Amino acid sequence: MLSFDGLAIRRDLGHGLTLRTIADEGDVERVAAFNTVIHGANVGELVRRICMHHPHIRADGFILVQDEATGQVVSSLSLHPWRWRYAGQELLVGEMGFVGTLESHRGRGLVRAQVSLFKELLREQGCHLSIIQGIPYYYRQFGYEYAVPLENHVRLELHQVPGPVDAPTHTCRPAGQSDFPALVRLYTEATWDLDVYAERDKATWRYIWEQSPGTEMEAEVWLVEDRARQPAGYFRVQKHPLYGPGLTTNEVSRLSPDAAGAVLRQLAALARERGNPFIRLNLPADCMLVRAAQALGAVNQGGYAWQVYIPDPPQLLRAIAPALERRVVDSVYAGLTTDLRIHLFRASLLLRWRTGRLVDVEWLTPAGDWGTLRLPASLLAPVILGHWSWQELARTRPDVAASGEWVPLLDVLFPPLRAYIYQIY
Ligand SMILES: CC(C)(COP(=O)(O)OP(=O)(O)OC[C@H]1O[C@@H](n2cnc3c(N)ncnc32)[C@H](O)[C@@H]1OP(=O)(O)O)[C@@H](O)C(=O)NCCC(=O)NCCS
Repeated sequence: MLSFDGLAIRRDLGHGLTLRTIADEGDVERVAAFNTVIHGANVGELVRRICMHHPHIRADGFILVQDEATGQVVSSLSLHPWRWRYAGQELLVGEMGFVGTLESHRGRGLVRAQVSLFKELLREQGCHLSIIQGIPYYYRQFGYEYAVPLENHVRLELHQVPGPVDAPTHTCRPAGQSDFPALVRLYTEATWDLDVYAERDKATWRYIWEQSPGTEMEAEVWLVEDRARQPAGYFRVQKHPLYGPGLTTNEVSRLSPDAAGAVLRQLAALARERGNPFIRLNLPADCMLVRAAQALGAVNQGGYAWQVYIPDPPQLLRAIAPALERRVVDSVYAGLTTDLRIHLFRASLLLRWRTGRLVDVEWLTPAGDWGTLRLPASLLAPVILGHWSWQELARTRPDVAASGEWVPLLDVLFPPLRAYIYQIY
């Protein structure tokens, strides 16, 4: 959204370079052009559309480094706010996006300088989590850890999909503007199967519908109808899949088994028509469409993961306290009273439980005694987000360990979670 509060940040980095946030429409054009150079024209256009039209992402969330002599943008990244749900609790999430530095300026700490400002802004805006779908390894140095599934995919060969059926229960057609209310409802229903997901309101749907064509994120939307021509689901087919020549689906609503069969037949027909050699489903591992594809012989090819950083662990735990309390109520620990210590080596988290309520979370430095669980701070994200249990992490990380009478409580507080994030732009 093209909105500036007149509080643009501007800091001297020395060597003729200035660190600042986007301050006007001219900056938007310069940052879009910069992204075209670094990531390609479709990404440059995506930056422009987001800055101009996204209902929740402000143009001044983009940070840049400018060479004062030439006026050129030499490095940039951005902060995008999302709203996620974690087991029913709303979380404010700050995505780091569109990271890049001109080749001539790499290795001089320009991203590092922008990440410092980014983290200040995360805290100012009260973000509970920060995420990035970034290149491997690099973001570890800024405290990020792999913690939410991304690009999970199965590959289905076209010959594995049965041919057309007589009198199909469901049919598919490209969605149109009039299907908008159904799409909004079907997205909400799709999130019922997930413990961690991104909220997508009507305004965001409208942005995706109207503004993603012509950008890197463009995707066709197909509606699934039952025999009565009522909406029974939808799926999206990516125009610019990042990986390989397969026909790629990156979003699907809840589908009945019959509807899933119809979608697979439709995808196979599209792939044949367009010359795609196979179908790739980039989707939650346990959704009906993936299960139906696996029943036909689709092969799971693994995936990547969102990298997550927790700006303020006590603030996050306070935000998810009602979810933690619900887990305790449903367990043998109902009515729990104890102080549970999670030791993060440089500091400890103390979770004060009183009669089943998490009444306070303290941040203690120095870290004090070992407590019940100890783990490097960056590994807190995968444990809280139910991506890896502490036991799974401990198999390869000797600095992860738990001991004492409260160890079984850890499994109650931090169970495996079904997490999947559909895009908001
Ligand atoms: C990756 C990229 C953004 C790094 O930008 P940069 O301005 O050179 O980064 P910085 O100098 O601030 O990097 C900070 C540190 O990481 C190191 N580093 C740089 N690239 C790295 C990489 N790919 N892997 C690991 N470390 C790396 C730097 O040497 C520096 O180390 P130091 O602080 O110990 O000196 C840049 O190489 C780039 O634009 N690449 C192409 C586009 C891209 O891949 N973007 C990321 C998309 S998620």
